Amino acid sequence: MSSYLDAIASMDSGSLHPGGFHHTLKVLRDFSISRNDIVIDVGCGTGRTACHLAKTYGAHVFALDNSEKMLSKARSRAGREKADVHFVLGDVLDMPFRDQAADLVMIESVLVFLPVLKAVKECFRVLKRKGILVDVELLAKDSLPPEAREQVKAVCGLPQIPSFKEWRQAFEKAGFSQIAASCKNFPGPLDNLKEIFYGGNSLFSPELMIAANLSRPLQEYQGLMKRYRSHFGFGTFIYRKN
Ligand SMILES: C[S@@+](CC[C@H](N)C(=O)[O-])C[C@H]1O[C@@H](n2cnc3c(N)ncnc32)[C@H](O)[C@@H]1O
Repeated sequence: MSSYLDAIASMDSGSLHPGGFHHTLKVLRDFSISRNDIVIDVGCGTGRTACHLAKTYGAHVFALDNSEKMLSKARSRAGREKADVHFVLGDVLDMPFRDQAADLVMIESVLVFLPVLKAVKECFRVLKRKGILVDVELLAKDSLPPEAREQVKAVCGLPQIPSFKEWRQAFEKAGFSQIAASCKNFPGPLDNLKEIFYGGNSLFSPELMIAANLSRPLQEYQGLMKRYRSHFGFGTFIYRKN
């Protein structure tokens, strides 16, 4: 695990993806998820989305992560919230699920840390035919200076930072058909307010930075994002396996 991921695992944060839980709720609004559906939350982190999916829709939710630290926080959350979620310790690149198991694969800021195409192919494998993939990921705009790209990759342990076009190409190469793909600017300081109103769960909130003792990778990340924020965005990718 990268030291950045380890640092965010030490934070008491609920939604560790751009746009935060506010964005998750917005994206899920367009879906009809039924109690019979099997949902896999890939790289579930502290389990906020997984618990929400289980409680709101009554779906069978499997939440997978390769970090025991994250899973332990997620299990505590599920206990507190009385959410029926099956937690699984495992690797996104080789998930312990059979082929065509899931109706929905939910991913929030995970694939950017991995070899993207390999991870997308694995998500394709575990989805049923007509199954849906929803993924929210960091992306780089063409304007991103090369040295800034390298610094962010190094600090966060990212093998790449795909552009909007490169993300779409990866999903299509793996065999997915696009339902919708959209790109938003990287959340700015004002967007933190939304997260604070939704329960103080933003990775970007100053309170959490202080609570995490401003550990070095987070300080570096925050500094880089302050400087280069306008060159990043985040994509919401909704694809179907036909
Ligand atoms: C930025 S966090 C996002 C967590 C959660 N999806 C959210 O939005 O709050 C990335 C998560 O992916 C997990 N992760 C990274 N690489 C993984 C892998 N190869 N297999 C499983 N989980 C992985 C990390 O442990 C971490 O919980």
